[in-house]
Amino acid sequence: MGVFSYTAEEISAIKKYAADHICPHYMSNADLDEGPKVYVKSEGNYVYDIEGRRYLDSFASILTTICGHNNMDIIDAICEQIKVLDFFPNFGDHYCLPMVELSQKLAKISPKGLTSYFYVNSGSEANETAIKAARAYHVECGEPERYKLIHRAGSYHGTTVAVTAATGLPWFKEKYEPIWNPGMLQAPPADCNHCDFGYNDSSTCGLACLKATEQLIIDNDPKTISAFIMDPLPGSNSGYPVAPQAYMTGIRELCDKYGILLIFDEIQSGFGKSGEWFVADHYNVSPDFLTLSKALTNGYIPLGVCMMQQKIYDKFRTGKSEFRSGSTFGGHNVACRAAIATIDYIEKHDLIARGRELSAYIYKGLDKLMEKHPIFLRTQGMGMMYSLELTAKKGEFVPFEKPGTVGAFINRYCYEKEQAIIRNNCYRGCDIVVFCPALTFTFEDADKLISALDNAFTAAEKEFNVQ
Ligand SMILES: Cc1ncc(COP(=O)(O)O)c(C=O)c1O
Repeated sequence: MGVFSYTAEEISAIKKYAADHICPHYMSNADLDEGPKVYVKSEGNYVYDIEGRRYLDSFASILTTICGHNNMDIIDAICEQIKVLDFFPNFGDHYCLPMVELSQKLAKISPKGLTSYFYVNSGSEANETAIKAARAYHVECGEPERYKLIHRAGSYHGTTVAVTAATGLPWFKEKYEPIWNPGMLQAPPADCNHCDFGYNDSSTCGLACLKATEQLIIDNDPKTISAFIMDPLPGSNSGYPVAPQAYMTGIRELCDKYGILLIFDEIQSGFGKSGEWFVADHYNVSPDFLTLSKALTNGYIPLGVCMMQQKIYDKFRTGKSEFRSGSTFGGHNVACRAAIATIDYIEKHDLIARGRELSAYIYKGLDKLMEKHPIFLRTQGMGMMYSLELTAKKGEFVPFEKPGTVGAFINRYCYEKEQAIIRNNCYRGCDIVVFCPALTFTFEDADKLISALDNAFTAAEKEFNVQ
């Protein structure tokens, strides 16, 4: 049966079954009640729904398909691999060849010293692994009292229990409180446009957020702290605020000073989207762990990795100090082959440079929109990750009466009227619109996205009376 050959009756039966029986991730009852959306086909930078409508995938299927959909170089590599060796698990002393080849490739592109790897199935598991490995490392180093974990307000680190506890966005964990979180400490973010300390200029604030982080460490007995998990570019939930260089250098120094291991969660921000392979590269800071997933296989097969400084794995390689963690499918060899093909594709087509060029083009379009639209206050982000901040009053940040509604209006307008997929969020009372096009976006796709936003802003200004 062709993907578009369903009758209207069949389509409504499929949708009813889905809404009645399949619980979506981070579900939305309001949207489900209006009728779910079902996708049947992808093509380049577009996806098609079951009704045959074509949508511009401007969020790269939640920041995964950065080399575009239906990328035959990657698909062929997957098909070839599964025919040669379908699966054998990575337990005890067993490896599959693609995992070795992938590790050697990652070593060439990742920040200094991150030359050992633990493969998993998702971003959440990669972060869980880093948290476990940090703790296990301290135990092996004779510091078993180090168990506490610092995370930052505004950060998302995943869906399993420990990383839900380490997520600094209350919405994700409030239904599970008291969530398992012994020794969980929360540091302030470096969010200069919405500073916790009331500053609005990072050159004169004296890095209050960094100072508060050191005070948090001192107040909580530094010798009991195991690790600091942070997303060096916080994600779409909190509008991609870019931290000053001195903050990031300062965090590395603080961790070194107090013997705390630094975990960079680059699950969302890593792998070419920022204009470099990693956000860590922009800051020239090497963490002790770097976690990665999402775009690692261009979204085609689940895979995550926890990269470690060599000294950490070396510690586990002596005597009885083995690291006890594992999952059946972690580092599936077909997924590793997909990751190799993704790196090869990015390199062969110079996609990181292309992303930089596209980003400059998109920012020109956004600048024009900012001049034209009173509702559009400013942009934040890096490379191809964009957050547009909305305001109820031209030229300054004024929250909307019902935060979240205007972003949702714009999101819906883009989807229904413009057939462009974007996202909206509400962070600290501020409505934001976020998107992250694939590195394979064409200039024409970028124009379509800017025009969709232009029309959506015009409609929102009218609807919410913004002048
Ligand atoms: C920064 C960050 N960390 C962790 C995760 C969790 O990854 P996953 O959904 O693959 O478990 C995400 C997912 O969106 C993320 O953006």
